[in-house]
Amino acid sequence: MATDVHGPVSPQVSPTSHAVRVEGLSRSFDGRAVIDDLRLDIRPGEFVALLGRSGCGKSTLLRILAGLDRDIRGTVLVPRRKAVAFQAPRLMPWKKVWRNVLLGLPGKPERAVAEKALEEVGLDHRTDAWPKTLSGGEAQRASLARALVREPDLLLLDEPFGALDALTRIKAQRLVGELWLRRGCAVLLVTHDVEEAVLLADRVLVMDDGVIAHEQTVDLDRPRDIADPRFAELRAGLLERLGVDTAAEAA
Ligand SMILES: Nc1ncnc2c1ncn2[C@@H]1O[C@H](COP(=O)(O)OP(=O)(O)O)[C@@H](O)[C@H]1O
Ligand SMILES: [Mg+2]
Repeated sequence: MATDVHGPVSPQVSPTSHAVRVEGLSRSFDGRAVIDDLRLDIRPGEFVALLGRSGCGKSTLLRILAGLDRDIRGTVLVPRRKAVAFQAPRLMPWKKVWRNVLLGLPGKPERAVAEKALEEVGLDHRTDAWPKTLSGGEAQRASLARALVREPDLLLLDEPFGALDALTRIKAQRLVGELWLRRGCAVLLVTHDVEEAVLLADRVLVMDDGVIAHEQTVDLDRPRDIADPRFAELRAGLLERLGVDTAAEAA
């Protein structure tokens, strides 16, 4: 797999066995280390969810992996083909949906490329729509389509469902699960929703104090059933790690 190297340290390991390889990563803001000697490996095709309290550095890590922040120390190896989608869909209001999907792609990509991606996310009927006429869920689908046209080996998602209502959120989660199965790319999903993490991921990470403080493999068959007692067990264990008292929650 082709790789980009961020940061001053050369990679020591063959990149082909990893979609992401991060070693000794540090990032400070105003002298305060938000990421502090962090290590992270993601296998090709692996779905990883990243949890952690607000402000712990999840978005900072994601931006670094996306190549949007290079003011770092350490080694960061990521695939050349990567794409990112944020909580806010960030569509350009003066461009129709299909043009937004192609935004920033090299060369002169054809409309058909956008149409195919829009079809994949169930938004082909909105190809010629203006962004302001889209619902929240539709805008998020457009944002996903924009990520997909890059044919990423690594898909980075920063709380992509955070602003959606409950039902739209469930549909969007299902869509991402399907896309991942079909595309076979590695996914790093930042979320504050433990249930979402256990529902979708092969492995759930908890970030704290600038490092990956905990990781939990999710060894449940897909599609997953939140009524499965093992699901509840994993969920409770992660909530405890996050410092949420589940007994108090239930009371
Ligand atoms: N560009 C920046 N300048 C200064 N501080 C920042 C910047 N980006 C993030 N931070 C700080 O880094 C910490 C981690 O932020 P962030 O990665 O957005 O957290 P999370 O996504 O986990 O909520 C926060 O304290 C935030 O204020
Ligand atoms: Mg964030």
